[in-house]
Amino acid sequence: MAEEDKKPVAGEEASADAPAGLSRLSKNKKLTIAVIAVAVLAVLGIGLWSWGTSPSFCSALCHSPLDNYVAGYYEGDAGKAVTVHAKAGMSCLDCHDRSTARQFGEFAHWATDSYQVDEEGFLVKDGSMLTKEFCTREGCHVWENVVDSTWGFAGNDEKYNPHASHQDAAITCSDCHKVHRTSELYCAKCHNMELPEGWVATSE
Ligand code: HEC
Ligand code: HEC
Ligand code: HEC
Repeated sequence: MAEEDKKPVAGEEASADAPAGLSRLSKNKKLTIAVIAVAVLAVLGIGLWSWGTSPSFCSALCHSPLDNYVAGYYEGDAGKAVTVHAKAGMSCLDCHDRSTARQFGEFAHWATDSYQVDEEGFLVKDGSMLTKEFCTREGCHVWENVVDSTWGFAGNDEKYNPHASHQDAAITCSDCHKVHRTSELYCAKCHNMELPEGWVATSE
């Protein structure tokens, strides 16, 4: 009985020893794994962060509605204002609000299918964010320079300036400029003017 009593005790000692050894071993392993994990996460994190600011991120997340915008970004179409900005190295989020709330809102719209697209596949929206305030914000365009540089634009007579004319009060920037679509020359509704490369005349 006494012998038999001992056995489990010895067994207990042995099994108490083994886990202790194991946990000592795994402490080192754990440390190694933790260090590797942190390094991997850091690399992934940096990668994701920069991917998150890149054009491909926008379409990877929200496929259908943004595909058009991303494709247009790489297209090189001179008639779309996105082209000159893409060539200058600007990305989607240099113009679009990058706040999480805004992105979540867009994601929610996408997830619930509560958006409309036109026949070309562009989102249908009321109004346009392409305004004078938006284009002339800190670090972007200086209005006086825009006006000064566009007298006789696109090889037209010097008297023509799309930014200073009898139409000023009647039209807004987005009547002519389109970032993701083809820009239109509103003046050409009535005047016979040269069009900038890639632009079309606003139809009557
Ligand atoms: C030069 C600034 C600029 C850049 C760069 C830019 N956008 Fe835009 N985007 C605009 C403006 C301004 C509008 C408003 C509509 C218009 O005139 O095209 C707009 C409209 C949109 C819309 C329609 C919804 C809305 O808010 O009006 C989507 C979607 C969009 N852009 C996605 C993108 C994606 C994706 C990229 C990158 C591939 C991108 N944009 C790059 C300025 C920009
Ligand atoms: C009647 C049409 C029309 C309207 C309205 C218009 N633009 Fe323009 N804009 C043009 C044309 C045309 C050009 C010259 C494009 C070219 O030569 O490629 C131009 C050029 C520009 C440029 C580039 C100028 C440069 O220095 O190279 C900026 C910036 C600009 N417009 C901003 C605006 C803003 C902001 C508004 C609204 C306050 C506006 N435009 C309203 C037609 C228009
Ligand atoms: C709704 C039609 C219409 C639109 C749109 C329009 N114009 Fe005019 N414009 C006229 C008429 C009509 C006259 C006066 C008759 C004329 O002299 O041709 C005129 C005269 C002018 C003149 C005086 C010099 C001249 O040619 O006799 C200039 C400069 C001018 N427009 C520039 C512009 C510019 C720049 C735009 C675009 C921002 C524009 N117009 C858009 C109808 C229009």
